[in-house]
Amino acid sequence: MASVRITGAVVAAATMVMLSYCYLGLFRFSDKFSTEKKKKKDKLIRRNGLVDAIGNTPLIRINSLSEATGCEILGKCEFLNPGGSVKDRVAVKIIQEALECGKLFRGGIVTEGSAGSTAISLATVAPAYGCKCHVVIPDDAAIEKSQILEALGATVERVRPVSITHKDHYVNIARRRADEANELASKGRLVARGEKTNEEEKEPSLFSDSVTGGFFADQFENLANYRAHYEGTGPEIWDQTHGNIDAFVAAAGTGGTLAGVSRFLQAKSERVKCFLIDPPGSGLYNKVTRGVMYTREEAEGRRLKNPFDTITEGIGINRLTQNFLMAKLDGGFRGTDKEAVEMSRFLLNKDGLFVGSSSAMNCVGAVRVAQALGPGHTIVTILCDSGMRHLSKFHDPDYLSLYGLTPTATGLEFMGIK
Ligand SMILES: Cc1ncc(COP(=O)(O)O)c(C=O)c1O
Repeated sequence: MASVRITGAVVAAATMVMLSYCYLGLFRFSDKFSTEKKKKKDKLIRRNGLVDAIGNTPLIRINSLSEATGCEILGKCEFLNPGGSVKDRVAVKIIQEALECGKLFRGGIVTEGSAGSTAISLATVAPAYGCKCHVVIPDDAAIEKSQILEALGATVERVRPVSITHKDHYVNIARRRADEANELASKGRLVARGEKTNEEEKEPSLFSDSVTGGFFADQFENLANYRAHYEGTGPEIWDQTHGNIDAFVAAAGTGGTLAGVSRFLQAKSERVKCFLIDPPGSGLYNKVTRGVMYTREEAEGRRLKNPFDTITEGIGINRLTQNFLMAKLDGGFRGTDKEAVEMSRFLLNKDGLFVGSSSAMNCVGAVRVAQALGPGHTIVTILCDSGMRHLSKFHDPDYLSLYGLTPTATGLEFMGIK
């Protein structure tokens, strides 16, 4: 009798355990199902204005490179941002932080010294914050760049290219212009309060009297750049790979992307290895692999222009920026101009991907990492901007032939892959 009672109790307990297990399983399943459903819905939901359309870019498998290397090579399609590049994220973060800390107001001018994507992104997003954009660029930059900026409503100043240590380097002029806009705004406030200003001191200004102040974006040193990637690009990559990522690789200009993404991924898992791919003429490879950036002769500021010109744009630098200093790297690789050109044509022919020079260099980096780690790894890189921004140099056959860079490869033999 006692044994029947014990057996009954055991059966009842086992049934309870089984029922709660099924219930928990069902609960977990429906929870997962509704999260997936919510994710899909979020993707389809309308975005709130231009700024909200920035980021959450697709992460795509680059089929040709994945099949050739035996690794999963994934590219984050930053060229699909509204302003056409990875710099949209940075422009938004720089302006938002400046507004939040009271260094910029609606009606203010954001100034930047840049011949590239950041200026275009700032000019694209500034109106969404009720601000304007003033860009100072070297006068040897392609004329299309100033045309695009002006078409976007920015004011553009083209100046003679000089060393970064010269007070009239375009970055230094941009910083000065922000100060001038601030002075103009404070004079305007004095006048509005009926207080005296010395009219004779007044010099003709580039900005209208209604300006509320200026803010120098300073993409190289402003850590809002790093934070844009630590809070945006990094987490997106982690989510899109479900944490299944072995390595990240990218070239650096300001260093913001590499720093933000590497810091975030390594905070998530120290297993994720992060690498630099460096173009010709840049000192970063030496810094990462040997701890020394340059010889005294090579130091930025000792020459007018980079003596080892590269066809790639927006990447490679010979000084350490605050943004780059935040990067957490496991190593570095070098890439050549020829490899970047060949890679861009390979991606176009095999995958239909029409990318710019830095994206092509990043893919050279992804293959180098795949070769170093061996098959079976997942490697992520950034597709920074589209080939459309590079029609007059990187995608111009005449320009390439002038520099002996005409692409000739039929496959990936330029990366040592048969
Ligand atoms: C087209 C392009 N790709 C890549 C980069 C490099 O990114 P980061 O400045 O985050 O190092 C830049 C920087 O200006 C760029 O303009």
